[in-house]
Amino acid sequence: MTTTTLAPLARLTVRDIAVGRPGSTAVFRRFKIDYCCGGGATLETAAAKRGVAVDAIVEAIEALAPGTTKPPADTNALIDHLLERYHDVHRWQFPEAIRLATRVEAVHRDHPACPTGLSQHLAHMFDELEAHHQKEEMGLFPMMRRGQSPLSGPIACMTHEHEDVVEQLHGLARLTNDFTPPDGACNTWRALYALCAEIDADLRDHMHLENNDLFRRFG
Ligand SMILES: [Fe+2]
Ligand SMILES: [Fe+2]
Repeated sequence: MTTTTLAPLARLTVRDIAVGRPGSTAVFRRFKIDYCCGGGATLETAAAKRGVAVDAIVEAIEALAPGTTKPPADTNALIDHLLERYHDVHRWQFPEAIRLATRVEAVHRDHPACPTGLSQHLAHMFDELEAHHQKEEMGLFPMMRRGQSPLSGPIACMTHEHEDVVEQLHGLARLTNDFTPPDGACNTWRALYALCAEIDADLRDHMHLENNDLFRRFG
């Protein structure tokens, strides 16, 4: 593939690519390109910031199988999707991850790679996320369903809280060695890091759909 054919996609914003090609978010995660809160940059700029060749990212996006399901166009259906696919899912993911982390931290406390503090970090994330969910479920989403506008105040508040979540996800990646268990790790340790990686992916996709799709409908 030549640079000439790659150029148009590279000049789009990460946000627009993520919305237009839903499967691209997995590619962005693989290359550590921020698509949920920092999605306003062009792909070219975002790649340069990460020190990654933009052509490699474009090729990976172009290679995606067609047919990845797009999020609902109808606003009520999109809100329902966010609640069922993300809010409800986070509500079982976090307690399970906290349970596994508590066990790993206790059993492997003398191991040099023991993720000390992980259960506490997950519990703090879950507390803050639950408060955030409540604000969306009890305040912002019902206003959106009623078609109220402008909603720039509450949207700015939610967007700001999403940025805090991204910081917490950086902490999660640090504590888990980028979700990589040490050689010879037990099944619980592996399951814990796999779940933490899933939490990272789901939270980024969740915030991306809110920031770059739902919230922009009320901008
Ligand atoms: Fe949400
Ligand atoms: Fe949110």
